[in-house]
Amino acid sequence: MDRAAEAKTQGALQLDAAGRLRHLLTLYQLPRPLIEALLARAAAFAAKPAARHATLAGRCVASLFFEPSTRTRASFELAAHRLGATTLNLEAERSSAVKGETLEDTLLNLQAMGVDAFVVRHAEAGVHARLARVAQAGVAIVNAGEANVSHPTQGLLDALTIRAHKGADFSTLTVAICGDILHSRVAASAASVLTTLGVGELRFVAPPGFQPPAADGQRLFDDVDAGIAGCDVVMMLRIQRERIGSTDAPDDAEYHRRHGLTAARLARAKPDCIVMHPGPVNRGVELASEVMDGPRSVILEQVANGVAVRMAVLEALLAR
Ligand code: NCD
Repeated sequence: MDRAAEAKTQGALQLDAAGRLRHLLTLYQLPRPLIEALLARAAAFAAKPAARHATLAGRCVASLFFEPSTRTRASFELAAHRLGATTLNLEAERSSAVKGETLEDTLLNLQAMGVDAFVVRHAEAGVHARLARVAQAGVAIVNAGEANVSHPTQGLLDALTIRAHKGADFSTLTVAICGDILHSRVAASAASVLTTLGVGELRFVAPPGFQPPAADGQRLFDDVDAGIAGCDVVMMLRIQRERIGSTDAPDDAEYHRRHGLTAARLARAKPDCIVMHPGPVNRGVELASEVMDGPRSVILEQVANGVAVRMAVLEALLAR
């Protein structure tokens, strides 16, 4: 199944008959009112980061990560705690998966113990939809990263961060997503949410080996200087080395020279352009330290917004 077909299947799975969110599997074609409601709720949480809530008291959120994570995992855990839920952190490499248990069976067992939501990161496409099919009513699957396919809460936190700086009307904005787009689930989810929110112009800026197969609605650039010219938002991406054969990965210094974002390059964007990055950043490769630590960088705001967005998502899925 191609990306679009798989996303359609997920779209049908994640909404109940009344159109409410039952799982969060993808942002692709997620209805705009649902996205706007999640962003509004997340903005309210972000405005009061010290507030603690009891909305999810007695509920349990389990995280099941089969790929490395710092920000996403920590922020889901903090989000659950700030809503009063308990959390269960399963080390995937130490779970029974290594003894041959299927992921579906792991889910059924944890569900039997009363876990209400599963936050899952996996390198294989389609795993989240498979789990959503076997989850019992009321148990939610939350996609925390699926292969190079999607990373919905990252897309939401990116939209929230853009909104905080540029306002809710995205139709006047030009956004450039730059770097290894081909292997990036972050780019895919950002493109979905920005498209739904009516972004004025979306540019994919990538060297030939990192360009997505076909651009639907995006302008494609292979030259970063041209790609970021006049932009309101520049989102830089890490080279996803874990998804590229080591012989095909470019040399770091050469990549930085040709495609990295430096202060001199950034001068081509609008004077109030913000610079984003999902993390982890490879300093001096896709992004110069002077830009990462500079006044246009909103990278740590993205991280803070990640907790607020995940609170909004867990509340929408689990609050009774
Ligand atoms: C990203 C991911 O894992 O998809 N990180 C994150 O969740 N913030 C991006 C990356 O690894 O480059």
